[in-house]
Amino acid sequence: MKTSPAPPLHMACIMDGNGRWARRKGLPRTDGHTAGEEALAEVVRQAARRSIGWLTVFGFSTENWVRPRTEVRHILSLHRKLFSRTDEMNSNNARTKWIGRPFSESGARTPVYVQKAIKKAIADTQGNTGLNVTVAFDYGSRAELVRAAKRAMTNGPVTPQAIEANLYDPQMPQVDLLVRTSGETRISNFLLWQITGSHIYFTERTWPDFDANEFAKALASYEEHANA
Ligand code: FPP
Repeated sequence: MKTSPAPPLHMACIMDGNGRWARRKGLPRTDGHTAGEEALAEVVRQAARRSIGWLTVFGFSTENWVRPRTEVRHILSLHRKLFSRTDEMNSNNARTKWIGRPFSESGARTPVYVQKAIKKAIADTQGNTGLNVTVAFDYGSRAELVRAAKRAMTNGPVTPQAIEANLYDPQMPQVDLLVRTSGETRISNFLLWQITGSHIYFTERTWPDFDANEFAKALASYEEHANA
C-alpha cells in the first residue's frame, strides 16, 4: 500500500522574554529585541534544514503600540532588518509572507517604510519553494476574526469554511506546534482560529536563548505528542 508523505509541519512562535533577557544581563531592553531578531534568523535556518513547511512568528501585535516610543521605533527598525535578509531567505529556499491589519484598512498602523520592506521581501522571495516564513506584524487574532466574519457575511451564511476563506492568509494551514518562550503560559491574541488542534510547547528559556538545541526539544515534544 502506498503511504502519502506527511503534510509539512506548521510551527508558530510567540517570541517572548527579550526584555527579561536584557535585564538579566544589565542591558537596555532594546538589546534584547536585537538579540531576538538574531535568534529568529537562526530559527529560520533550523526550520529550513528540518523541512518544516510553515513558520509563523509574532513580530508585533495590535497591542504592542502602547510600548514606549523608543522601544517601538527599535522593534520597527528590526523588522526592516529582518525583511532585508533576502540573501539568507533565498539560500534557505524560504518565502517571506506577512499577516496583519491590511495597510489601507482603518485602524491599521504599519508605517510606510515597514510596508515597503514587507512588500519588497515578499516580492524578492516569492520564487522560493521550501519554507514559508510568515511574520505577524500589526497583527491581532480578534481583529482578524472580526474582519473574516464581516466579509463572510456579505457572501452568504457564516460557516467555519467561510471564516477560513476570509482569514488574512487563507492558504495558511492549521498550526501543528505552537511555542511560547520565557515561562508565560498564555496565547495573547495569536492565531486563535489556527491553533485549534496545536500541540503547545512552553519553555522557561527567553526568546534570545531559543537556540538550535531548544528548537530540537520543541520539535521532539511535538513528535512525541503526535505519535502518542
Ligand atoms: C516580547 O519580548 C517580544 C516582542 C515584543 C515581539 C517580538 C520581537 C522580537 C523577537 C524582536 C525582533 C523580531 C522581529 C520579528 C524583527 P518582551 O519585550 O515582551 O519581553 P519581556 O516580556 O521580557 O519584557
